[in-house]
Amino acid sequence: MYGSRVRELLAASQAQESVDVRGWVRTRRDAKGFVFLEINDGSCLKNIQCIVDEGTEAWENLAGVNTGASVGIRGALVESPGKGQQWEVHAVSLDVFGLADAAEYPLQKKRHSDEFLRTIAHLRPRTNKYGAVFRIRSEAAWAVHDYFRQRGFYYVHTPLITGSDCEGAGEMFRVTTLPADAAGTEAGASEDFFGKPAALTVSGQLEGEALACALGRIYTFGPTFRAEHSNTPRHAAEFWMIEPEAAFFVLGDIMELSAGLVAHAVRHVLEHCGEDIALLDRFVCPGLLESLRGILERGFSQVSYRDAVRLLEKSGNAFEYPVFFGCDLQTEHERFLAEEYFKSPVTVYDYPKAIKPFYMRLNDDGETVAAMDLLVPRIGELIGGSQREERLGLLEQCMAEMGQKPEDYWWYCDLRRYGSVPHSGFGMGFERLIMMLTGVSNIRDVLPFPRTPGNLEF
Ligand code: 4AD
Ligand code: MG
Repeated sequence: MYGSRVRELLAASQAQESVDVRGWVRTRRDAKGFVFLEINDGSCLKNIQCIVDEGTEAWENLAGVNTGASVGIRGALVESPGKGQQWEVHAVSLDVFGLADAAEYPLQKKRHSDEFLRTIAHLRPRTNKYGAVFRIRSEAAWAVHDYFRQRGFYYVHTPLITGSDCEGAGEMFRVTTLPADAAGTEAGASEDFFGKPAALTVSGQLEGEALACALGRIYTFGPTFRAEHSNTPRHAAEFWMIEPEAAFFVLGDIMELSAGLVAHAVRHVLEHCGEDIALLDRFVCPGLLESLRGILERGFSQVSYRDAVRLLEKSGNAFEYPVFFGCDLQTEHERFLAEEYFKSPVTVYDYPKAIKPFYMRLNDDGETVAAMDLLVPRIGELIGGSQREERLGLLEQCMAEMGQKPEDYWWYCDLRRYGSVPHSGFGMGFERLIMMLTGVSNIRDVLPFPRTPGNLEF
């Protein structure tokens, strides 16, 4: 048997004669006749205090047991007379799985900078902060599945290797088995594994649409790759995206669905990760708890792109990037809207067609498309989505205008040829959601092993 989890022991309703706890030593304190060991096993933020008395079998094995060592302790769970914990373990026996040299172990008991911890990404999950972040990440993933399942969405898996650039932004990682000098050449492609150029997906949307036009409501939740050279705190080269797609949904429906998803995730982590959120509120992002509660209390705002531009123009703020109808909103604009103007998450809709991809549905004004972005305080864009162009003629026209060849997307066009339906979907960056939920300000610190330009350690 593999022992009990600290989380369960700390929640025990009564003392237990025999428990077996296994984990890593966070601290060791020596007193006269006994030793305190604080054990953490990652199941929760808190440690369990173990007491090893002189004269016990456990005492014999204490040599070299220090911060970072992994141990198994058998003993009794008893009520703790000390302050700060209800239960403690009185050790009978102690097994050492692995020692950690105190002079070398990088995680000594002091606060380390995020920059330093990124250089030891293999060890940082053992710290309070990163343990909290990755537990919240896990809970948030459950919340996402739960939300869609409750609404009749099927979880589908779209390919990671693709031949089409969904977003049309040309930020794809090439996939090839050719030697370095032949890859990427016209002649090379036909010799290559797939007989044509291949890349890692930037979005599962197009395939998702095909499944939605059969199963009705679907969502994907998987890795996504973008070779953007933007070295910002919000962009990673490999991240996770959630992409729901639903037949018969119009723009208003996904505006509601996306806001509901964010609220559901917030509610879920407040309910299930209270201790971890409290830690982050205290040490990482003061005001986090209040801001998460505020999201639920105050609700979400909506504004058309046209009105958002007016608000920005009137704001009197000196933005680095100019604001005008037709401009792509920059993070500074998005944050102004969410943080200062609306003081809540806000959905901006009906963007100019020229700044959006080919698949978005043209509005009757001929100038805007049925697009939406959900912007949140501290982060900016969390979600981007749209109603899809279901009219074949208009889709082909739009592709041509944006330099895409309808032949390359013949199967996507078929969805409009055979039983076309109005349908809509969106993509939510999972890491950005985790940044919002944890108050962590850099995407590199919510991914266990981040991939960013120039960075591929681990
Ligand atoms: O706005 P984007 O580019 O939309 C799409 O890819 C659509 N195909 C989605 C859809 O309609 N099915 O990306 C969606 C979200 C963004 O709002 C952002 O949260 C996240 O994905 N995202 C990134 N997150 C981390 N690193 C990056 N480089 C990201 N690029 C986009
Ligand atoms: Mg976007």
